[in-house]
Amino acid sequence: MQRIALLTSGGDSPGMNACIRAVVRKAVYHGLEVMGIKRGYNGFIEADMAPMNTSSVSDIIQRGGTILQTARSDQFLTPEGRAKAYQNVKRFGIQGLVAVGGDGTFRGARIFNREYGLPVAGVPSTIDNDIPGTDRTIGFDTAVNTAVEAINKIRDTATSHERTFIVQVMGKNNGFIALEAGLAGGAESILIPECPFDYNDICERLLKGYRRGKLHSIIVVAEGAADGMEVGRKIKECTELETKVIILGHLQRGGAPSAADRVLASRMGSKAVELLMAGETRKMVSIKAGEIVSMDIDDALSQVRSIDLDLYHLAGILSI
Ligand code: F6P
Repeated sequence: MQRIALLTSGGDSPGMNACIRAVVRKAVYHGLEVMGIKRGYNGFIEADMAPMNTSSVSDIIQRGGTILQTARSDQFLTPEGRAKAYQNVKRFGIQGLVAVGGDGTFRGARIFNREYGLPVAGVPSTIDNDIPGTDRTIGFDTAVNTAVEAINKIRDTATSHERTFIVQVMGKNNGFIALEAGLAGGAESILIPECPFDYNDICERLLKGYRRGKLHSIIVVAEGAADGMEVGRKIKECTELETKVIILGHLQRGGAPSAADRVLASRMGSKAVELLMAGETRKMVSIKAGEIVSMDIDDALSQVRSIDLDLYHLAGILSI
Protein backbone atom coordinates (compact mmCIF):
# COMPACT_ATOMS: atom_id res chain seq x y z
CA MET A 1 0.00 0.00 0.00
CA GLN A 2 1.42 3.36 -1.02
CA ARG A 3 -1.39 5.85 -1.01
CA ILE A 4 -4.42 6.17 1.22
CA ALA A 5 -7.20 8.73 1.35
CA LEU A 6 -8.89 10.29 4.34
CA LEU A 7 -12.25 11.98 4.81
CA THR A 8 -14.52 13.22 7.58
CA SER A 9 -18.23 12.83 7.03
CA GLY A 10 -21.58 13.40 8.76
CA GLY A 11 -21.93 15.79 11.70
CA ASP A 12 -18.60 17.21 12.81
CA SER A 13 -17.34 16.43 16.30
CA PRO A 14 -14.57 17.90 18.45
CA GLY A 15 -11.47 15.76 17.99
CA MET A 16 -11.86 15.13 14.26
CA ASN A 17 -8.83 17.34 13.63
CA ALA A 18 -6.76 15.41 16.15
CA CYS A 19 -7.75 12.26 14.28
CA ILE A 20 -6.81 13.76 10.90
CA ARG A 21 -3.42 14.70 12.36
CA ALA A 22 -2.90 11.18 13.68
CA VAL A 23 -3.83 9.50 10.39
CA VAL A 24 -1.59 11.76 8.33
CA ARG A 25 1.42 11.59 10.63
CA LYS A 26 1.15 7.86 11.24
CA ALA A 27 0.89 7.26 7.50
CA VAL A 28 3.84 9.52 6.72
CA TYR A 29 5.86 7.82 9.47
CA HIS A 30 5.36 4.54 7.62
CA GLY A 31 6.16 6.04 4.22
CA LEU A 32 2.59 6.23 2.91
CA GLU A 33 1.10 9.11 0.95
CA VAL A 34 -2.19 10.62 2.09
CA MET A 35 -4.87 12.34 0.02
CA GLY A 36 -7.15 14.56 2.09
CA ILE A 37 -10.69 14.52 0.68
CA LYS A 38 -12.73 17.67 1.32
CA ARG A 39 -16.44 17.80 2.29
CA GLY A 40 -16.90 14.10 3.02
CA TYR A 41 -18.12 11.80 0.27
CA ASN A 42 -19.09 14.82 -1.83
CA GLY A 43 -15.41 15.64 -2.30
CA PHE A 44 -14.73 12.01 -3.16
CA ILE A 45 -17.27 12.24 -6.00
CA GLU A 46 -16.13 15.67 -7.16
CA ALA A 47 -12.37 14.98 -6.93
CA ASP A 48 -12.02 17.70 -4.31
CA MET A 49 -8.87 16.31 -2.76
CA ALA A 50 -5.22 17.16 -2.27
CA PRO A 51 -2.10 15.51 -0.89
CA MET A 52 -1.43 16.09 2.80
CA ASN A 53 1.87 16.06 4.65
CA THR A 54 3.05 16.52 8.21
CA SER A 55 2.80 20.30 8.01
CA SER A 56 -0.75 20.22 6.62
CA VAL A 57 -1.79 19.00 10.06
CA SER A 58 0.32 21.36 12.20
CA ASP A 59 -1.48 23.35 14.85
CA ILE A 60 -4.81 21.55 14.54
CA ILE A 61 -4.86 19.13 17.48
CA GLN A 62 -6.57 21.75 19.64
CA ARG A 63 -9.09 22.93 17.07
CA GLY A 64 -12.77 21.94 16.92
CA GLY A 65 -14.51 21.21 13.62
CA THR A 66 -12.65 19.50 10.80
CA ILE A 67 -10.10 21.09 8.48
CA LEU A 68 -11.27 18.69 5.77
CA GLN A 69 -14.83 19.93 6.25
CA THR A 70 -17.73 17.54 6.21
CA ALA A 71 -21.13 16.87 4.67
CA ARG A 72 -23.98 14.42 4.65
CA SER A 73 -23.75 13.34 1.02
CA ASP A 74 -26.97 12.46 -0.78
CA GLN A 75 -25.04 11.79 -3.99
CA PHE A 76 -22.98 9.03 -2.41
CA LEU A 77 -26.21 7.21 -1.53
CA THR A 78 -26.73 6.63 -5.26
CA PRO A 79 -24.88 4.02 -7.39
CA GLU A 80 -24.06 6.81 -9.89
CA GLY A 81 -22.44 8.91 -7.19
CA ARG A 82 -20.34 6.00 -5.98
CA ALA A 83 -19.32 5.15 -9.55
CA LYS A 84 -17.96 8.69 -9.92
CA ALA A 85 -16.06 8.30 -6.66
CA TYR A 86 -14.55 5.08 -7.97
CA GLN A 87 -13.30 6.93 -11.06
CA ASN A 88 -11.36 9.12 -8.63
CA VAL A 89 -10.02 6.11 -6.77
CA LYS A 90 -8.43 5.01 -10.06
CA ARG A 91 -7.43 8.50 -11.14
CA PHE A 92 -5.59 9.27 -7.89
CA GLY A 93 -4.27 5.76 -7.25
CA ILE A 94 -6.03 5.44 -3.88
CA GLN A 95 -5.49 2.05 -2.26
CA GLY A 96 -7.31 2.47 1.04
CA LEU A 97 -9.71 4.87 2.72
CA VAL A 98 -9.93 6.10 6.31
CA ALA A 99 -13.51 7.33 6.92
CA VAL A 100 -14.02 9.33 10.10
CA GLY A 101 -17.62 9.85 11.22
CA GLY A 102 -20.76 8.14 12.48
CA ASP A 103 -22.99 5.30 11.32
CA GLY A 104 -23.93 6.98 8.02
CA THR A 105 -20.22 7.35 7.24
CA PHE A 106 -19.68 3.65 7.91
CA ARG A 107 -22.66 2.64 5.79
CA GLY A 108 -21.14 4.61 2.92
CA ALA A 109 -17.72 3.01 3.45
CA ARG A 110 -19.24 -0.46 3.64
CA ILE A 111 -21.25 -0.26 0.45
CA PHE A 112 -18.31 1.28 -1.42
CA ASN A 113 -16.07 -1.54 -0.21
CA ARG A 114 -18.63 -4.14 -1.28
CA GLU A 115 -19.11 -2.62 -4.71
CA TYR A 116 -15.54 -1.68 -5.59
CA GLY A 117 -13.35 -3.61 -3.14
CA LEU A 118 -11.49 -0.54 -1.82
CA PRO A 119 -10.19 -1.37 1.69
CA VAL A 120 -11.78 0.91 4.26
CA ALA A 121 -11.11 1.66 7.92
CA GLY A 122 -13.78 3.52 9.89
CA VAL A 123 -13.08 5.74 12.87
CA PRO A 124 -16.12 6.44 15.10
CA SER A 125 -16.44 10.17 15.56
CA THR A 126 -19.73 11.67 16.62
CA ILE A 127 -20.87 13.59 19.67
CA ASP A 128 -23.79 11.14 20.00
CA ASN A 129 -21.69 8.16 21.22
CA ASP A 130 -24.22 5.92 19.49
CA ILE A 131 -21.96 3.58 17.54
CA PRO A 132 -22.26 -0.05 18.60
CA GLY A 133 -19.02 -1.89 19.33
CA THR A 134 -17.15 1.01 20.89
CA ASP A 135 -17.38 2.35 24.43
CA ARG A 136 -16.67 5.87 23.26
CA THR A 137 -16.77 7.91 20.07
CA ILE A 138 -14.53 10.91 19.37
CA GLY A 139 -16.26 14.13 20.42
CA PHE A 140 -18.64 12.71 23.01
CA ASP A 141 -16.51 13.69 26.00
CA THR A 142 -16.18 17.28 24.79
CA ALA A 143 -19.90 17.57 24.02
CA VAL A 144 -20.81 16.29 27.47
CA ASN A 145 -18.40 18.76 29.06
CA THR A 146 -19.87 21.58 27.00
CA ALA A 147 -23.36 20.64 28.18
CA VAL A 148 -22.22 20.41 31.80
CA GLU A 149 -20.54 23.82 31.58
CA ALA A 150 -23.83 25.24 30.30
CA ILE A 151 -25.79 23.53 33.09
CA ASN A 152 -23.41 24.99 35.69
CA LYS A 153 -24.06 28.49 34.37
CA ILE A 154 -27.81 27.96 34.15
CA ARG A 155 -27.81 26.68 37.72
CA ASP A 156 -26.43 30.04 38.95
CA THR A 157 -29.24 32.06 37.45
CA ALA A 158 -31.83 29.37 38.20
CA THR A 159 -30.95 29.58 41.90
CA SER A 160 -31.08 33.38 41.97
CA HIS A 161 -34.59 33.37 40.51
CA GLU A 162 -35.83 30.05 41.96
CA ARG A 163 -36.65 28.83 38.49
CA THR A 164 -37.01 25.50 36.76
CA PHE A 165 -34.87 25.12 33.66
CA ILE A 166 -35.33 22.61 30.91
CA VAL A 167 -32.04 22.02 29.08
CA GLN A 168 -32.39 20.23 25.75
CA VAL A 169 -29.29 18.46 24.51
CA MET A 170 -28.45 16.69 21.24
CA GLY A 171 -28.03 12.96 20.73
CA LYS A 172 -30.29 12.11 17.78
CA ASN A 173 -32.38 9.10 18.86
CA ASN A 174 -30.23 8.35 21.87
CA GLY A 175 -29.80 9.62 25.39
CA PHE A 176 -26.06 9.21 25.91
CA ILE A 177 -25.26 12.93 26.08
CA ALA A 178 -28.33 13.65 28.21
CA LEU A 179 -27.55 10.89 30.67
CA GLU A 180 -23.91 11.80 31.30
CA ALA A 181 -24.48 15.55 31.20
CA GLY A 182 -27.51 15.19 33.47
CA LEU A 183 -25.68 13.05 35.99
CA ALA A 184 -22.56 15.24 35.97
CA GLY A 185 -24.67 18.40 36.09
CA GLY A 186 -26.79 17.18 39.02
CA ALA A 187 -30.08 17.40 37.11
CA GLU A 188 -33.33 16.71 38.97
CA SER A 189 -34.69 14.66 36.08
CA ILE A 190 -33.19 13.27 32.89
CA LEU A 191 -35.47 12.44 29.98
CA ILE A 192 -34.01 10.01 27.47
CA PRO A 193 -35.65 8.10 24.61
CA GLU A 194 -34.52 4.76 26.02
CA CYS A 195 -36.59 5.11 29.22
CA PRO A 196 -40.28 6.00 29.38
CA PHE A 197 -41.17 8.92 31.60
CA ASP A 198 -44.30 10.28 33.17
CA TYR A 199 -45.01 14.00 33.52
CA ASN A 200 -46.86 13.47 36.81
CA ASP A 201 -43.78 11.83 38.34
CA ILE A 202 -41.53 14.61 37.09
CA CYS A 203 -43.83 17.30 38.50
CA GLU A 204 -44.20 15.44 41.77
CA ARG A 205 -40.41 15.25 42.17
CA LEU A 206 -40.06 18.93 41.34
CA LEU A 207 -42.66 20.06 43.84
CA LYS A 208 -41.21 17.78 46.53
CA GLY A 209 -37.81 19.34 45.94
CA TYR A 210 -39.14 22.89 46.26
CA ARG A 211 -41.11 21.93 49.40
CA ARG A 212 -37.93 20.80 51.10
CA GLY A 213 -36.14 24.02 50.18
CA LYS A 214 -34.54 23.50 46.78
CA LEU A 215 -33.89 26.83 45.10
CA HIS A 216 -33.92 25.63 41.51
CA SER A 217 -34.46 22.59 39.35
CA ILE A 218 -32.81 21.44 36.17
CA ILE A 219 -34.32 18.92 33.81
CA VAL A 220 -32.12 17.60 31.04
CA VAL A 221 -34.01 16.45 27.95
CA ALA A 222 -32.49 14.47 25.11
CA GLU A 223 -33.73 15.81 21.77
CA GLY A 224 -34.89 12.29 20.88
CA ALA A 225 -37.01 11.98 24.04
CA ALA A 226 -39.20 15.06 23.83
CA ASP A 227 -39.33 18.63 22.63
CA GLY A 228 -37.85 20.83 25.36
CA MET A 229 -40.39 23.61 24.73
CA GLU A 230 -43.26 21.21 25.20
CA VAL A 231 -41.70 19.76 28.36
CA GLY A 232 -41.46 23.32 29.71
CA ARG A 233 -45.11 24.02 28.86
CA LYS A 234 -46.41 20.80 30.41
CA ILE A 235 -44.43 21.25 33.62
CA LYS A 236 -45.63 24.82 33.95
CA GLU A 237 -49.22 23.69 33.44
CA CYS A 238 -49.13 21.00 36.09
CA THR A 239 -46.94 22.73 38.72
CA GLU A 240 -47.52 26.43 38.08
CA LEU A 241 -43.77 26.85 38.44
CA GLU A 242 -41.98 29.34 36.23
CA THR A 243 -40.12 27.32 33.60
CA LYS A 244 -37.42 28.41 31.17
CA VAL A 245 -36.21 26.34 28.25
CA ILE A 246 -32.77 26.37 26.71
CA ILE A 247 -31.82 24.35 23.64
CA LEU A 248 -28.06 23.90 23.51
CA GLY A 249 -28.07 22.74 19.89
CA HIS A 250 -24.92 23.02 17.80
CA LEU A 251 -22.94 24.62 20.62
CA GLN A 252 -22.29 21.02 21.62
CA ARG A 253 -20.59 20.27 18.31
CA GLY A 254 -17.99 23.02 18.47
CA GLY A 255 -15.12 24.06 20.66
CA ALA A 256 -11.67 22.78 21.48
CA PRO A 257 -11.67 19.03 22.05
CA SER A 258 -11.06 17.80 25.60
CA ALA A 259 -7.76 16.11 26.38
CA ALA A 260 -9.61 12.78 26.52
CA ASP A 261 -10.98 13.29 23.00
CA ARG A 262 -7.55 14.31 21.66
CA VAL A 263 -5.96 11.18 23.10
CA LEU A 264 -8.79 8.95 21.83
CA ALA A 265 -8.62 10.54 18.37
CA SER A 266 -4.83 10.11 18.22
CA ARG A 267 -5.03 6.46 19.20
CA MET A 268 -7.93 5.67 16.88
CA GLY A 269 -6.48 7.51 13.87
CA SER A 270 -3.20 5.68 14.29
CA LYS A 271 -4.98 2.32 14.54
CA ALA A 272 -6.94 2.97 11.34
CA VAL A 273 -3.68 3.31 9.39
CA GLU A 274 -2.34 0.13 11.01
CA LEU A 275 -5.46 -1.75 9.92
CA LEU A 276 -5.07 -0.71 6.30
CA MET A 277 -1.37 -1.52 6.34
CA ALA A 278 -2.17 -4.96 7.76
CA GLY A 279 -4.42 -5.67 4.78
CA GLU A 280 -7.71 -5.38 6.65
CA THR A 281 -10.49 -4.42 4.27
CA ARG A 282 -13.61 -3.44 6.23
CA LYS A 283 -12.87 -2.68 9.86
CA MET A 284 -13.97 -0.10 12.36
CA VAL A 285 -11.61 1.04 15.08
CA SER A 286 -13.07 0.90 18.57
CA ILE A 287 -12.19 1.29 22.21
CA LYS A 288 -13.16 -1.47 24.62
CA ALA A 289 -12.28 -1.34 28.30
CA GLY A 290 -9.56 1.21 27.53
CA GLU A 291 -7.95 -0.81 24.76
CA ILE A 292 -7.94 0.19 21.11
CA VAL A 293 -9.22 -2.74 19.07
CA SER A 294 -11.14 -3.25 15.83
CA MET A 295 -14.24 -5.02 14.61
CA ASP A 296 -15.89 -5.71 11.30
CA ILE A 297 -17.97 -2.74 10.15
CA ASP A 298 -20.83 -5.18 9.40
CA ASP A 299 -20.83 -6.33 13.02
CA ALA A 300 -20.77 -2.78 14.31
CA LEU A 301 -23.69 -1.76 12.10
CA SER A 302 -25.80 -4.79 12.93
CA GLN A 303 -25.62 -4.31 16.69
CA VAL A 304 -27.57 -1.98 18.93
CA ARG A 305 -25.75 0.31 21.33
CA SER A 306 -27.65 0.24 24.57
CA ILE A 307 -27.69 2.83 27.28
CA ASP A 308 -26.26 2.09 30.73
CA LEU A 309 -29.44 1.66 32.76
CA ASP A 310 -27.48 1.44 36.03
CA LEU A 311 -26.19 4.93 35.36
CA TYR A 312 -29.73 6.11 34.65
CA HIS A 313 -31.04 4.68 37.92
CA LEU A 314 -28.08 6.09 39.82
CA ALA A 315 -28.83 9.56 38.45
CA GLY A 316 -32.42 9.14 39.69
CA ILE A 317 -31.29 8.10 43.17
CA LEU A 318 -28.75 10.90 43.49
CA SER A 319 -31.23 13.57 42.48
CA ILE A 320 -33.69 12.99 45.35
O1 F6P B 1 -25.12 13.33 14.91
C1 F6P B 1 -24.70 14.52 15.49
C2 F6P B 1 -25.84 15.48 15.63
O2 F6P B 1 -25.34 16.66 16.22
C3 F6P B 1 -27.06 14.97 16.38
O3 F6P B 1 -26.90 15.00 17.78
C4 F6P B 1 -28.13 15.90 15.88
O4 F6P B 1 -29.40 15.30 15.99
C5 F6P B 1 -27.74 16.10 14.44
O5 F6P B 1 -26.36 15.82 14.36
C6 F6P B 1 -27.98 17.50 13.93
O6 F6P B 1 -27.65 17.49 12.58
P1 F6P B 1 -27.43 18.81 11.70
O7 F6P B 1 -26.11 19.39 12.06
O8 F6P B 1 -27.45 18.30 10.32
O9 F6P B 1 -28.53 19.74 12.05
